[in-house]
Amino acid sequence: MIYSKISGTGSYLPEKTLTNHDLEAMVDTNHDWIMARTGIAERHIAAEDEFTCDLAEKASRLAIEDAGVTASDIDLIIVATTTADQVFPSTACLLQERLGISGPPAFDVQAVCAGFMFALDVADKFIRTGTARCALVVGAETFSRIIDWSDRRTCILFGDGGGAVVLQANDAPGVYSTHLHSDGRHKDLLCVPSGVSRNYEAVKAGTAFTTMEGGEVFKWAVKAMSDLVEETLKANDMHKDDLDWLIPHQANVRIINAVGRRVGFDPDKVIATVGHHGNTSAASVPLALDESIRNGTIKSGQLILLEGFGGGFTWGSALVRV
Ligand code: COA
Repeated sequence: MIYSKISGTGSYLPEKTLTNHDLEAMVDTNHDWIMARTGIAERHIAAEDEFTCDLAEKASRLAIEDAGVTASDIDLIIVATTTADQVFPSTACLLQERLGISGPPAFDVQAVCAGFMFALDVADKFIRTGTARCALVVGAETFSRIIDWSDRRTCILFGDGGGAVVLQANDAPGVYSTHLHSDGRHKDLLCVPSGVSRNYEAVKAGTAFTTMEGGEVFKWAVKAMSDLVEETLKANDMHKDDLDWLIPHQANVRIINAVGRRVGFDPDKVIATVGHHGNTSAASVPLALDESIRNGTIKSGQLILLEGFGGGFTWGSALVRV
């Protein structure tokens, strides 16, 4: 039996930070309100000439180095992003060229903030079926480009970043299981209601921005990510005490805490890095994973439940041993 296993991780945050105090000068808000409602103190914003593929490349190079492989070993590239550099080619193809790889499949997946979970699921299936042996799976976003910086309801939440893992074939899991869900009935609760095919006027006018029903999204995110914990544990005949860590989508500390409470999880075992980078959408889970491994919080051999939730709605999880 072939399984997949994460053999290396990497992440990157743009240099420029935007603090809550900086936001006070831009919209009618204040640091205390943002901290109390979201737990976010600052977010990173890509430079004008810095694009999603740049963040993806930096995170990928670190993951490749950490895995001890070379670019020529990589036989699959999947990039999860909502904010592709170009309409086409895919950001995965742009990344492939940067890394000097040619031939193996490279493509993007779009599941917004759950994107990394969808990409990991697909890569795991490629490896389990013997179609690939060494996949580069990336979540990268320049979400700041689709934010209305005069809208205090959304601009306090998001930031830019990239995270990557190398996923390799292995005799033992690795990835125990993945679980994906979508429900397009909620398409209007969290969206950018314009694109190249529809309402292109907004794109041309530079007003293709994220809109959100915050309260509704909050409720759904908590429910979906709590249910995912139960579903994932049940599928593996495990109990929450078997887990070393829970890494929920890094959207908001209140959502993360609410999920932890709802599933009765020890708060000390729930990873929250959102406070210093905000919601980086598809980058959020691999960023939190990489940071927690590199700072020694997560140790080799530990069992982690990763989960994402995003616009669509989309939501997904993976149970992994690192
Ligand atoms: N600063 C100060 N006040 C703000 C504000 C801001 N940045 N944003 C909204 N407010 C005001 C509102 O206008 C409202 O004022 P009113 O009572 O006079 O009308 C008040 O604060 C409460 O607003 P409300 O929207 O009810 O706050 P909330 O407790 O629901 O918190 C969010 C708002 C956005 C923080 C919260 O709904 C949330 O986190 N939602 C999930 C968002 C998310 O994670 N999305 C991505 C998922 S992938």
